Amino acid sequence: MSKNFYITTPIYYPSGKPHMGHAYSSILADIFARFKRIEGYNVYFLTGTDEHGQKIQKEAEKNKKEPKIFCDEISETFRSLTKILNLTNNDFIRTTEPRHFKSVKEIWTRLINSGDIYLDKYSGWYSVSDEAYYDKDEIEDKDGKKISKISGSTVEWVEEESYFFKLSKFQKKLLDHYKKNEDFILPASRKNEVVSFVEKGLKDLSISRTSFSWGIPVPENKKHVIYVWLDALTNYLSALNFPNTDDKMYKSFWPADVHIIGKDILRFHAVYWPAFLLAANLPLPKRVFGHGWILSDDKKMSKSLGNILDPIEIIENYGIDQLRYYLIKDVSLGNDGSISMENLKNCINNDLANNYGNLCQRVFAFIKKNCDNKIPNKVDLKEDDIKLINNIKNNIPKLVEYINKQNLNEYIKKVVNFSFEANKYFNDSEPWAFKKKDQTRMHAILYTIVEQIKNISILLNPIIPISTKKVLNTINISDKDILIDSIKKDNILDCNSELKSLDILFKKIENDN
Ligand code: ME8
Ligand code: MG
Repeated sequence: MSKNFYITTPIYYPSGKPHMGHAYSSILADIFARFKRIEGYNVYFLTGTDEHGQKIQKEAEKNKKEPKIFCDEISETFRSLTKILNLTNNDFIRTTEPRHFKSVKEIWTRLINSGDIYLDKYSGWYSVSDEAYYDKDEIEDKDGKKISKISGSTVEWVEEESYFFKLSKFQKKLLDHYKKNEDFILPASRKNEVVSFVEKGLKDLSISRTSFSWGIPVPENKKHVIYVWLDALTNYLSALNFPNTDDKMYKSFWPADVHIIGKDILRFHAVYWPAFLLAANLPLPKRVFGHGWILSDDKKMSKSLGNILDPIEIIENYGIDQLRYYLIKDVSLGNDGSISMENLKNCINNDLANNYGNLCQRVFAFIKKNCDNKIPNKVDLKEDDIKLINNIKNNIPKLVEYINKQNLNEYIKKVVNFSFEANKYFNDSEPWAFKKKDQTRMHAILYTIVEQIKNISILLNPIIPISTKKVLNTINISDKDILIDSIKKDNILDCNSELKSLDILFKKIENDN
């Protein structure tokens, strides 16, 4: 079995500063990347910016800047967001880099050589904001304007010479692929959308433009620039040193294990991208995971709607682990989900401060006071103690399966429940009652609970890496032991070692601030 794992986020348009929607996709991908790493995989995690096309050119003009200079500046804010979000991306790709040009040219050439490109004329609707072509039955009138029924964005009529990709030719191959690979598109509801779109029949796709210049030129016809989506999707290969298919990066990591995207760009990833790859005779990614939208005031949070929440502001006020946790716990991955400051505060207080944080803090305080601040030895565990410990161990395969299907909501529900159970165990087994009469029993209880804290912290580590590291550090677990395997093993805790000190983990949020 290959122990390599390649995961990507969308590459974002540097047309405006990053918002919570971008943060959400990136955090999700980071959690999967971190989990696979502690599961022992060699992970490559890619993110970046998508810098060509009419949308960027227009935005640059509006700002009276050269497109490249404009992109340099905004791309940098996306790059710095990766630090603020505490992402563990291995690479940050920009489509204006030479490595990417090389790879896009190769894809173009492969499609020419396979006979899947022809020159014709496009006339139809185009949304610059989505960089997407729409059919007439996907268009409606609103306030005297033509908009896309799908995204709500304004469309304009375009008529120009264009190269076309023979997308229609791939209908059956795509449908076969969806059928044979049940989990190619997740969640399942997304898959159904794609299948019915493809079943309705596919039209050939315009893949070049002549009415503006900001893009990668068509190699044999410099009047044309390559359609920004054919350009952008190829980034996933460029980062692996494609077109050098003998390169170690390409060999280790292609095909990608999962592209994490929002449902707005599902068609591009689950229809066009696999069709391009089929035509180029390259293996298809193993999965496209399309999450729902973060809503604010029940509408999709987007720059054009002006209802965006700024992740940086929230992180400054509440902390990055807190935001990461909230987005995973409170937003349903498959569906759209509203987020609110009210819910964020409740989530920090109930789950982080009162549950996991409180568990750690009260147990460590008790050990400090009653056990010389040392982790007790594993002695005379009772059936209930062993049952509690084994409950997490026995659930590992289930938890790994959740992660492998990007089912983070179920994953976190289970882990939070372990934390509730551990708190309950601590209360019910009343270690304080044994202080005088049975030190051995008291130690057994405390050993058990520290073991649980260790295991819960490892499971939460991909989601709240900073806080869990503090906790694991307190009980002398070194970074190299932050592994899923350490949950299965009995000899990871350093019994008799002294607890390090721990500051408050999660400050409770007062409700009026
Ligand atoms: O589409 N809720 O870039 P983009 C959840 N450059 N996720 C959201 C969101 C929201 N309200 N808003 C944005 C592009 N996102 C292309 C991608 S990939 C080869 C090229 C996230 O800047 C979500 O992942 O418009 C969505 O798919 C992506 O940002 C779109 O970012
Ligand atoms: Mg968009």
